Amino acid sequence: MDYVRIRGGRALCGEISVSGSKNACLPILAACLLTKDECVIENVPHLSDTRLMLKILQLVGAHVQYQSKHTVSIRAESVDPHAPYELVKQMRASVCLMGAFLGRTQTSDVSIPGGCVIGQRPIDLHIKGFNKLGCKIEIKNGNLCIDGRDMHGERIFLGGRNGSTVTGTANILMAALGAKGTTTIECAAYEPEIIDLCHFLQKLGAVITGVGTSTLTIEGGHELHGCRYRIIGDRMEAGTFICAGLMTRGKLKILNNTPNINSVVYDKLNDIGANVYEDADGTIFVDGSNCELRSSEVVTMPYPGFPTDLQAQFCALLTQANGISIVTERVYPSRFMHVPELNRMGAGIMIEGEHAIIHGVTSQRLIGAQLMASDLRASAALFLAGLCAEGETIVSRVYHLDRGYERFDEKLRSLGADITRESA
Ligand code: EPU
Repeated sequence: MDYVRIRGGRALCGEISVSGSKNACLPILAACLLTKDECVIENVPHLSDTRLMLKILQLVGAHVQYQSKHTVSIRAESVDPHAPYELVKQMRASVCLMGAFLGRTQTSDVSIPGGCVIGQRPIDLHIKGFNKLGCKIEIKNGNLCIDGRDMHGERIFLGGRNGSTVTGTANILMAALGAKGTTTIECAAYEPEIIDLCHFLQKLGAVITGVGTSTLTIEGGHELHGCRYRIIGDRMEAGTFICAGLMTRGKLKILNNTPNINSVVYDKLNDIGANVYEDADGTIFVDGSNCELRSSEVVTMPYPGFPTDLQAQFCALLTQANGISIVTERVYPSRFMHVPELNRMGAGIMIEGEHAIIHGVTSQRLIGAQLMASDLRASAALFLAGLCAEGETIVSRVYHLDRGYERFDEKLRSLGADITRESA
């Protein structure tokens, strides 16, 4: 099993390019099943999760071919709408196959995903949406078997206890394309990744209005055709590099970022006194060389609120800010597995329910330690802490990171980090 060794304390400097967005790419790859024509998807990040999604697409009948490193052609002349547990258990995002299967074949048989380390991740809202569309649903051998042959347009309120649902919205959007009539989703998620999915579906010929708002209207029953589409840049990877630049007191220029989708993050960075600027093309300039960071309050929320997928990285960043910061996690209230590991490096963080209370000190470096990654974003936070720590940090279970960051250690090395990947 791979682990990473980081010798901290080097300022990261130079230019780096973010990859395509994982969370935009996964539902878009699934959505390629909606047409029998060829779809060519550009800016596909090379990640274990995208490779797994492509493998599932092949297993259900699609012809998948890489045209170049980040461009994939997918042609699904026929689709067998069945995704078994062995595959689904490896990646929760495979739930969005349900919507794609329903939109294309009006049936779906996909294993129900199990528990998740970042918190309870039910799919009750997805099921509510399918029911509203007129689907008949049965649970058999751990699979959600959906008969959508009578699907018809409906008004569906998709909000839950913690707000809107991202993959739930993706699922109902795609299923509604196979329903007769018009569907309206209220309290739809409008994360940039959902907007990207809508733009892709529109390019396939889908009629969707309200894109970029919490009310989406979808006209079902239109014939969809192939297209060429470029995935947006990964705003979580961009945010992670920003933290890396600031925490190591370096200077970074971040390229291939999609503009105007990270406003809340810049607002917080401005609050803490960080020198970060995004130009009209989306290029981000980070100057951590002279900044004394201040503490702040961060509350995660659905878009356009602060993203839960940057919460762990900001916890790491705020250990380097003067004063007491409070980070409140409202999307996954117990998503704090990175905290005990950061504390093993000398960070002063206390957890109180859904709050992390961070006693930050600009003048005190974290101390390197042996750490265990528990999930994707927690891994990123541990890398960041290791980069600014004194001495050596070893992060094991780095496969979590490989699910969502393309060549992360290699990219960090190109910016001057002393980081090596080794096998146990
Ligand atoms: N929820 C329900 N019922 C449902 C669905 C969700 O109560 O049926 C709750 C969840 O428990 C959570 C909240 O609603 O409290 C939001 O969950 P959501 O459904 O939006 O999450 P998701 O679609 O499963 C995606 C991302 C996650 C990201 C969340 C929130 C993908 C593939 N995954 O998950 O990304 O944290 O949205 O923005 O898009 C990651 O990349 O590290 C990651 C976990």
